[in-house]
Amino acid sequence: MYISREQRKLDHIRLALQTAWNPGMNGFRDISLVYEALPELSLDEIDPSLSLFKKKLQAPLLINAITGGHPKVKAINLSLARTARRYGIAMAVGSQRAGLDNPQVRDTYTIAREENPDGLLFANLSATATPEMALAAIEMIDADAIQLHLNTAQELAMPEGDRDFRGISDNIKKVVKASPVPVIVKEVGSGLRYETARRLLRAGVSCLDIGGSGGTDFVRIEHLRADHAHASPEVRGLTSAVSLLEVLSLNLPPLVIASGGFSEPLEIAAALALGAKIVGIAGHPLRVLIEQSEEALNQWIEHLIAGLRRTMLMSGARTLEDLALKPVVITGRTAEWLRTRDIPYEHYARR
Ligand SMILES: Cc1cc2nc3c(=O)[nH]c(=O)nc-3n(C[C@H](O)[C@H](O)[C@H](O)COP(=O)(O)O)c2cc1C
Repeated sequence: MYISREQRKLDHIRLALQTAWNPGMNGFRDISLVYEALPELSLDEIDPSLSLFKKKLQAPLLINAITGGHPKVKAINLSLARTARRYGIAMAVGSQRAGLDNPQVRDTYTIAREENPDGLLFANLSATATPEMALAAIEMIDADAIQLHLNTAQELAMPEGDRDFRGISDNIKKVVKASPVPVIVKEVGSGLRYETARRLLRAGVSCLDIGGSGGTDFVRIEHLRADHAHASPEVRGLTSAVSLLEVLSLNLPPLVIASGGFSEPLEIAAALALGAKIVGIAGHPLRVLIEQSEEALNQWIEHLIAGLRRTMLMSGARTLEDLALKPVVITGRTAEWLRTRDIPYEHYARR
């Protein structure tokens, strides 16, 4: 059965909306900021802005890679880009392979740059893409960085997916060498472990998006798409909490984007306190946009940022740098995992 890449884009959106997930499945119920009853701060002075890849963000959020490549999804990227611009947050377009192959759908990606000329915008391709493809994807949207996605579990669940995963590290090295902008390697929902992160750093990658489990579940989505609705899981990915802590445990940790199942200010604040630079959100904003409206998406982003600022105040943090020095307690399954893997974590509680 041949299914075009364009059709797959629409299936992914439809099935992502069907397969809801609940907050907390990403392990962040195990991560607690420690309340500060005497913060000596005014809410007005709480500042969640930061600089990243030479651009200023008003809040540490990324609307992560979702779509592009079908005429019907141009409106989605338009809305996401408008929201990113309005709130000064970062955005990534979905995999640009379709736009490289078919010039007729290029505008479904370029709209994101047209709508937000000065914003922080990431290109996106598979980590199997050639350096030439990466350069073309960067140029297509004048990208500030490029995301290369790793999605072994998803490919294996797709009847038409890849089966040979050899040579990808070498390929990433070549793309890093050729790229005029930073290269971000991201998972899409199964997480990165520290050994993988170390290999990616050695390959020259400077930024990792952990893409942990507990949010949008692409293995399940592919099983549904292939009519294997009853397929049982064949892998247990790393939760976002575990993956973030694994990657940050490296001696020289990279710039880390936390993603996978984030939809609440408290979890976002906890990821930032542990050491994530920004937090990526995909399934939830997509749901709000499609099931409600762009206005509802804007209100939700406002709610996230306002909640983050209140949480920062209640942790005694005026800035994101302050937040990253505040005590964080790690308990439950996440702590047990880290102990079993010999990854130190108690120091976060004693800051
Ligand atoms: C409909 C949909 C399409 C996606 N397409 C891409 C893609 O093309 N490239 C990519 O790297 N990630 C893609 N993702 C994955 C997201 O960028 C993100 O890593 C993942 O959804 C986990 O975040 P979440 O739990 O907040 O949804 C997609 C996600 C959704 C919901």
